[in-house]
Amino acid sequence: MSARAGGHESAFGHVTGTAIYTDEQTPPRDLLSLYPVTAPHAHARILGIDATRALALPGVVRVLTAADIPGQNNTGPILPDEPLIPAERVLYYGQAVAWVLAEDEATAITAASLVAVRYQALPARLGIEAAIADQAWHFPPAQVQRGDATTALAAAAFQLAGEVASGGQDHFYLETQTSWASFDAAGNILVTASTQHPSETQMMVAQVLGIAAHRVICRCLRMGGGFGGKETQANPFAALAALSVQLSGRPTRIKLRRALDMQLTGKRHPFLSRYQVGFDGDGRLLALKAELYADGGWSADLSPPVLMRAMVHIDNAYFIPHVAVTGYIAKTHLPSNTAFRGFGGPQGMLVAEEIIDRVARFLGLPADLVRERNFYCADQTPDRNTTHYGQPVVDNHLADLWQQLKTSSDFERRRAQINADNASISERKRGIAITPVKFGISFNKTDYNQAGALVLIYTDGSIQLNHGGTEMGQGLHSKMLAVAARVLGVSVDRIRVMVTSTDKVPNTSATAASSGADLNGQAVKAACEILLARLRPIAAAALHGAESEVRFQHDQVFLANAPANTFGFGDLVRAAYSARVSLAATGYYRTPGLSWDAARGYGHPFYYFAYGAAVSEVEVCGYTGRHRLRRVDLLHDVGESLLEGIDRGQIEGGFVQGMGWLTCEELRFGDNGRLLTDAPSTYKIPTLGEVPEDFRVNLYQRRSAVSTEVIFGSKGVGEPPLMLALSVREAIREAVAAFGSSAQVALASPATPEAIYRAITAVRGH
Ligand code: MTE
Ligand code: MOS
Repeated sequence: MSARAGGHESAFGHVTGTAIYTDEQTPPRDLLSLYPVTAPHAHARILGIDATRALALPGVVRVLTAADIPGQNNTGPILPDEPLIPAERVLYYGQAVAWVLAEDEATAITAASLVAVRYQALPARLGIEAAIADQAWHFPPAQVQRGDATTALAAAAFQLAGEVASGGQDHFYLETQTSWASFDAAGNILVTASTQHPSETQMMVAQVLGIAAHRVICRCLRMGGGFGGKETQANPFAALAALSVQLSGRPTRIKLRRALDMQLTGKRHPFLSRYQVGFDGDGRLLALKAELYADGGWSADLSPPVLMRAMVHIDNAYFIPHVAVTGYIAKTHLPSNTAFRGFGGPQGMLVAEEIIDRVARFLGLPADLVRERNFYCADQTPDRNTTHYGQPVVDNHLADLWQQLKTSSDFERRRAQINADNASISERKRGIAITPVKFGISFNKTDYNQAGALVLIYTDGSIQLNHGGTEMGQGLHSKMLAVAARVLGVSVDRIRVMVTSTDKVPNTSATAASSGADLNGQAVKAACEILLARLRPIAAAALHGAESEVRFQHDQVFLANAPANTFGFGDLVRAAYSARVSLAATGYYRTPGLSWDAARGYGHPFYYFAYGAAVSEVEVCGYTGRHRLRRVDLLHDVGESLLEGIDRGQIEGGFVQGMGWLTCEELRFGDNGRLLTDAPSTYKIPTLGEVPEDFRVNLYQRRSAVSTEVIFGSKGVGEPPLMLALSVREAIREAVAAFGSSAQVALASPATPEAIYRAITAVRGH
């Protein structure tokens, strides 16, 4: 499949196994391997490390400890609270207190077991409840509020209070954390990393080695998945490989095996949320007070912005006049939780959907009606279309999209049928639910909303395209190819996307927040437009016309009024070269109009919102608590799709990953803080067997153009569809409800068979 057909530029490589990943690149000569010495305590003092026996093993080059770090022993992205190798204290089970450097990985593994470490075990805090008891936080509480929630709550006709917890999620990227590093011929450190953020990786390597950033080049060819897990957490591994290069003078690789990757790296934040909601007899929400507790793990990492995104998505698609949300980041002795597709959004929106369901059941109204009644809406008063953090819900198409989906999925008729069938079948119940998604696009951190590109045209007419984004399977390179080809009016075959490298495009942002195509696409467009502006006078002269009449299309240049008289793109490039015109340009973009006051939780943090809705139908077995996903209809707004095949893939993949988080992926830690579910055998990710039996994915057909100036009218699609999976959870809840006559349905998340079985038992009232 070619990118031209709307597919992924590496699709052929992906499916035939010929696409090259970080650890499969031709290894340099004398490559060494690193392997960790991991601590068997969640919290302990390090009393001493004796590497004598390890060092005696043939093939062992060195054992790296904190004392070997020449620069800063820290890779924390926000707070300097993340030692690369701890010197004094172990803060989570499995933390690496030393790294063995050896000729090969097998030797390093053996040697690691020979390093004798003495610990003094300390009491460990292993979850949110324990952190609440200890009042142990990484930061002071964060707040977002509008109006007077306390007064409005008291004045509301009805109130409900509750608590809902959501579980963590391992990224389970197919390629685990991997980096290798070497000196280049000029003595620079060349790091090849599976990282979503090469510029930050470069800075962390420089910081740890105590050298200037200009001596470090970080490259990323492609990742075998990132999903947020390589936004910051690739950095320590790159830094370790680079440290080894600096100390040994030899190239070094690090690649975590699956179990190690799962034990050492952070995951989606588990959340505990407590809420009080006030509403009227029609189900209209009037006031919400909520406390969100996110398990940050042992270090701060990206927890503050993750928590903030949860706090500004607790409304999902619903207008609530009076809101007071407080957020806490629990400091626990667990792996440090990090970015994961949705970045806190899913955890916040889960609370919204939980509340809607409770309100609906309390009033005896259909949940979809309560959802509709609470939608943000521009038709009425303007404030009904403004979020609790002060941002207008721009380009709001949700009500229309929702109606389209209800019709296309035949929602009403199917629900009536399900209700009728449920009445006659006792041990299998079906449920159907429709839920909306409104997801803010842009980094909350305003600084990150910028991007660069570098486009080089060679005299044979071929083009190299560099941009600041990274490819992790989401198809960013394909989209950037499409943008460059469209602006330059050439075929994609003429263009090669180059490996992402910090010496081509500097100071880049993480490829994250679903903004990769928005930001880098505009930068690519800007670079190409600069080149066109330089080529246009050359073309005008050659074609004897006005510059404004010059058109670039189908690898040809011509005048608008004489399309038959063409000049080849390659000829034009050679003419430009002869005329001594520069054929290389950088492009730059920053998102306009953003503002965010993090201290007040107020402003305009998002350029726009992505919208979608989903209908899921499940069947639940009353004997086992297992469920089948019978049919799913997704309708998602991608604006004017840059590449339809890619966008459909993102919608399907995001939904399935969200479904995994909500139904089958369950992390279990032992009493000692050790992750017990560290393999696919014990940690169940969705596979083909869980994919909906009937899966209908459609792109929303807009009635008007996207109102913001996103690249070619497209919209970010990487994360929002994950939250369409909330419909699965709500459909399961509907099915569970059908087993009894209980007024409320408490359903744990993830809704594993055990959790569903417990929920059924509860509604049956025994
Ligand atoms: N799709 C694939 N195949 N692999 C990934 O790792 N990461 C997701 C999403 N889709 C991911 C993916 C996440 S977390 C984000 S933020 C976006 O892709 C990042 O890419 P984009 O900004 O180019 O959409
Ligand atoms: Mo995605 S969680 O923003 O990398």
